[in-house]
Amino acid sequence: KSLKAYFSTQFLVGSAINAQQAKRTEQDTDALIIAQFNTITPENELKWERIHPKPDTYDFSLSDEYVDYGLANNMFTVGHTLVWHSQTPEWVFEDAQGKPLTRAALLARMEEHIQTVVSRYKGKIKGWDVVNEALNEDGSLRDSKWRQIIGDDFIEKAFTYAHAADPDAELYYNDYNLYKPEKSAGAARLIKSLQNKGVPVHGVGLQGHYSLTHPALNELDDALTLFASLGIESMITELDISVLPFPSEAEQGADISQDLALQKALNPYPNGLPKAQQDALSARYKEVFSVFSKHHASISRVTFWGVNDANSWRNDWPMRGRTDYPLLFDRKNQPKPAYHTLMTTP
Ligand code: XIL
Repeated sequence: KSLKAYFSTQFLVGSAINAQQAKRTEQDTDALIIAQFNTITPENELKWERIHPKPDTYDFSLSDEYVDYGLANNMFTVGHTLVWHSQTPEWVFEDAQGKPLTRAALLARMEEHIQTVVSRYKGKIKGWDVVNEALNEDGSLRDSKWRQIIGDDFIEKAFTYAHAADPDAELYYNDYNLYKPEKSAGAARLIKSLQNKGVPVHGVGLQGHYSLTHPALNELDDALTLFASLGIESMITELDISVLPFPSEAEQGADISQDLALQKALNPYPNGLPKAQQDALSARYKEVFSVFSKHHASISRVTFWGVNDANSWRNDWPMRGRTDYPLLFDRKNQPKPAYHTLMTTP
């Protein structure tokens, strides 16, 4: 039994993998990835800062290993991500003197990057997160450097350049909190405007950085209905379900090592997840997947953000140094109760 086999009539099931995993350094993790998943996403290895650290320097050593891994294992290999405000070096927006680029110069730089990267993996990377996280929570466009310098049309330009570089690749808009009504409405407006202009957009990626309480199932359901009505595919792209309390802004900045009470409140299970919370996680996975299954006709894949709890970014986000249990495999790569719960027919 495996995730990919269990859900094979509904959607692909995948994971983000990191550089170590693409290098196959840990045998049991490697075996687990191959047994369970039929699609992969690079956790960091294709981000601008990694592959294009300086104006005239590309470094494809890690991304090549990632793509080779996907090809060797016959997986639907995703590219993440071309245009984002984060993990993008500052020089991208500046000229050699450190002055802000003009619109024309930044567009030329964006086109050169997209053309170089997408054409390198033409026919190998099957789908691209072309633009990542361009929206505010209220559905308006985020005031990123991309938007400040180029204008709102930086998004359609990115999709157009990606399509020119590989006309067969699927092109996605990816963002978090797309279950929130205002934000999903903003994404729908954005996608419709691309469609109206004839710009190729094939899918929307809903990052799934969830918790035991968020999203509300009806909001998720509504968002998936909305995106299906646009005639595009939906993907759950970065699934992990934190079992920890979401800290306030002040708590995120606090030094919890100096405050035992806060430490206990914000990092309550440093030595393992108690049975009650393990059960809560199982029930939560079951219910969010029941919504995914309801929408399986429009969902092409569900991708976890990490293979096991040990390598999940949720141990460090939204605050550093906690012990979280957000995935289906534990720190020894063993399936957790949530894994078994998920694969029982209702
Ligand atoms: C995260 C990675 O998991 C971390 O290793 C890295 O330090 C920061 O980025 N949204 C995205 C992902 O689109 O690329 C982010 O990945 C998580 C949030």
